[in-house]
Amino acid sequence: MKNINLTETKSWNILKNHFNIIKNVHLKDLFLSDPHRFNKFSINFENKILVDFSKNRITKDTLKYLLDLTKEMNLKNAIKNMFSGMRINETENRSVLHIALRNQKNSPIFINDYNIMLDINHVLKKMKNFSESVINGNWKGYTGKSISDIVNIGIGGSDLGPYMVTEALRPYKNHLNIHYVSNIDGTHLVEVLNKINPETTIFLISSKTFTTDETMTNAYSAKMWFLKISKEKNTLDQHFFALTVDVKNALEFGINIKNIFQFWNWVGGRFSLWSSVGLSIILSIGFDNFKKFLNGACAMDNHFYHTEHKKNIPIILALISIWYTVFFGSETEAIFPYDQYMHKFPSYLQQLNMESNGKSISKTGQRVSYQTGPIIWGAPGTNGQHAFFQLIHQGTKLIPCDFIVPIYSHNNLTDHHIKLISNFLAQTKTLAFGTMDEFYFKKTIFFKKNIKHYKDKIKTDFLFKQCTGNQPTNSILIQKITPYNLGLLIALYEHKIFVQGHLLNIFSFDQWGVELGKKIAEIIYRNFNNREKINSFDSSTQGLISFYKSFYK
Ligand code: F6P
Repeated sequence: MKNINLTETKSWNILKNHFNIIKNVHLKDLFLSDPHRFNKFSINFENKILVDFSKNRITKDTLKYLLDLTKEMNLKNAIKNMFSGMRINETENRSVLHIALRNQKNSPIFINDYNIMLDINHVLKKMKNFSESVINGNWKGYTGKSISDIVNIGIGGSDLGPYMVTEALRPYKNHLNIHYVSNIDGTHLVEVLNKINPETTIFLISSKTFTTDETMTNAYSAKMWFLKISKEKNTLDQHFFALTVDVKNALEFGINIKNIFQFWNWVGGRFSLWSSVGLSIILSIGFDNFKKFLNGACAMDNHFYHTEHKKNIPIILALISIWYTVFFGSETEAIFPYDQYMHKFPSYLQQLNMESNGKSISKTGQRVSYQTGPIIWGAPGTNGQHAFFQLIHQGTKLIPCDFIVPIYSHNNLTDHHIKLISNFLAQTKTLAFGTMDEFYFKKTIFFKKNIKHYKDKIKTDFLFKQCTGNQPTNSILIQKITPYNLGLLIALYEHKIFVQGHLLNIFSFDQWGVELGKKIAEIIYRNFNNREKINSFDSSTQGLISFYKSFYK
């Protein structure tokens, strides 16, 4: 497919001119001029998710021009190409087919004339059988005891996705304790090992490549710790499992072929929670719930593929994001789940979005002249309100925010949930409209009367207490955080990010930037072990190395 540079489209100029009008318009005025704004700028999906994007600095025209851009940039074809298995990850020469992992219709999907659904179904069946035997206690450890603890060792997509989902779906969890170890800092592993009994623990070594230093270092240390207690090498067969693309590396590590749950190169690391990397999720919530989770994602895939662009949730959210990053030049996007179980969601989305769209070279090889992927950050509501919301309310930055809010809580404790909802509504209202009108009005009357005694105080109130509003938000209301609805939500964001990447004309499915740091760390590590002498680093790095070494003389 021909790559089209965003800045060379007709829509680009139209949008730039349109931005010059909209940049000075206040949300207050947009709402005053159209009482039906909520109905016009919200989409209800299956009554499970309602996306209200009315509190954005957009008009009907803005959307029209952005939608025209999708046509000019052949978005429809790009979506088709991804779903049909075309090698859209051109810099790695790979297809991008996480959608196949949740293809609940089981319709054939081909790569090189081979129907990959056969492999997917085979691994799913293997995961089902294995997880059932662990959960029902039939799978025994080397001393004949049933399993109580699962340790997932992985990093990046091999950690963040499954960890986030396991936490988000805690209300569905069974008796198994699930632990996640990612950091190469030995503390992470040691703290987990201190809590578990090797006789009743299973280790899932989760790594697409089975070479990532953090994961392999943790995996070898876990293996050493285990064998020191179990003594017999063959005891590994009951306790060590690999979730990987690279079967050869897993075998070399000492994992039994039967304990390898494979996935494939066409699954990007940050999309791997739908593959065998999701085994810890299955062990936590059971296979039936995992199926519902896949069903939810599949429903969003169908919506994304089939729905016209103006009613297509991932596309609309992507266009809004593009509007702010490219035209307003805003640099960040904040994510606020108003659900404690969703506390890992912002960091999961960080990888999904920033590793995907943190690029600066266009598909045609030029440095882009616009902002690309936003910095993603956030925290659960209401904690964020008492930490950094001040800056969003009264600072100098434009920060578009997504509020993700369940209608039903899993824990109905007195009036907690209604208070939580009130806070979400108060924040989105205040961010949009600023200091409340009534409040404003009273102050204005006082000010006009020019009562000397109050004058300074009122002035102070005006200047320092005023919130100017006009901060855009999306409200994403979810009926409840169930496996199905969480599947919907994650797939929604995946597709949003895909659309952003396509319109920005960058390659979203590689992550070459991460590789350089890995290589340099390897060189420095060899230097510490005196296997390689390096004196050629910059004076800062060299100075830090010398200072560190001086403590180990
Ligand atoms: O951070 C780079 C990266 O390649 C991620 O994309 C990936 O999720 C992570 O490292 C872990 O990689 P692996 O699953 O191969 O260990």
